[in-house]
Amino acid sequence: MDKNKEENADFLMEDDLEDEGLLNMPVQKVKKDLEANALPLVFNLMEMHFSVGEIYWTMSSGKKITLFHPGDWIRKDYLQKFLSAGKEIQIDTILNEDYCSKGLGLFEKFLECEEEEDKAEYRDAIISWICDGYWNNEEEVGLADLMFVCEQSFFGFTQEEEQKLFDSSADLFKRSSIVSSLLVSLAIVMGYLDKELLKDLYHLSFLFDISLDENVLSTNLINALEQERKTPQSWHSSLGENEVSVFKSHSEQGVDKAFTFYEEKMSNPGLLHFIETHHERINGLGFPLGLNEGEISDLEGLIIFVNNRFPYSDLKLRSGDASSYLRILMEKSEELEAVLTNRIKKIITNEFENRDSEHAKYLEVSGI
Ligand SMILES: [Fe+2]
Repeated sequence: MDKNKEENADFLMEDDLEDEGLLNMPVQKVKKDLEANALPLVFNLMEMHFSVGEIYWTMSSGKKITLFHPGDWIRKDYLQKFLSAGKEIQIDTILNEDYCSKGLGLFEKFLECEEEEDKAEYRDAIISWICDGYWNNEEEVGLADLMFVCEQSFFGFTQEEEQKLFDSSADLFKRSSIVSSLLVSLAIVMGYLDKELLKDLYHLSFLFDISLDENVLSTNLINALEQERKTPQSWHSSLGENEVSVFKSHSEQGVDKAFTFYEEKMSNPGLLHFIETHHERINGLGFPLGLNEGEISDLEGLIIFVNNRFPYSDLKLRSGDASSYLRILMEKSEELEAVLTNRIKKIITNEFENRDSEHAKYLEVSGI
């Protein structure tokens, strides 16, 4: 994919496309017909990290050249190349913009709160917001919506750090943007209110596989990750001897590497130890430690659940692809029982099931 992008960029430079040296401002798309209570979203691509739609420019022949697909990390140097050449970059977003705007407002206020009481109130509103889309199917939402709102609220890697993580593994970096959003959202549902802890959790997900860097990562290893996700202890068959050893030790080595890379940036660096348990199960069949339910904390349990339920392959994001996603993720199945503790399931289910939706409240107050 990157190779193609580079080819596009080379093509741009080699061709007779005019280069007037005008440095375009990043594209801004403002939706004007929003409801009164939702602020219009403004997309400044140079300040965004992951694409929430197709980002493209159109050649004079009318041919559309896609620079980034939904979910892709937005490489600023690559984008800048086009902007510097005076190209008008556009984005077709796949977001539910009203829903995102509301979510952004709630997360912003939640993270600004100093008083526990206020925080609890905004937490409650955030849970209702998540519930309407990802549990009750009352909003048409996609994973991109959650990814966008969480990225805007929590993302704190520097440009150099982003580049390093992307260079290590573009595919895993893209996946992490979704996993971290699911993790931090469910942590709020579980009752974690400390904003520094939530920020740390968001960044932690990007570091799970930090030891599988560009020196060792292969398609084989990514396939093995997916194989292990679906069926524990079944990942050896497709790997060579060296790969088996890399795979087996990646959780443990990831902890050391993450401490070197990110310890100083974490308010709670002890969380980095949880990298070691990101492939555990709750029935002793995970690795490397083969832990059981009674041996893991709630946060580790949440990490195990989210990391296991989100695939490593087929990461295509589409508009509205995730309505009721969390409800479906928690539906009874044999695999689920190995990764979700009863306690976590009960807490999350209770929060969502015993809740009047925002939609229902609206119907009530408007007398419908
Ligand atoms: Fe891993």
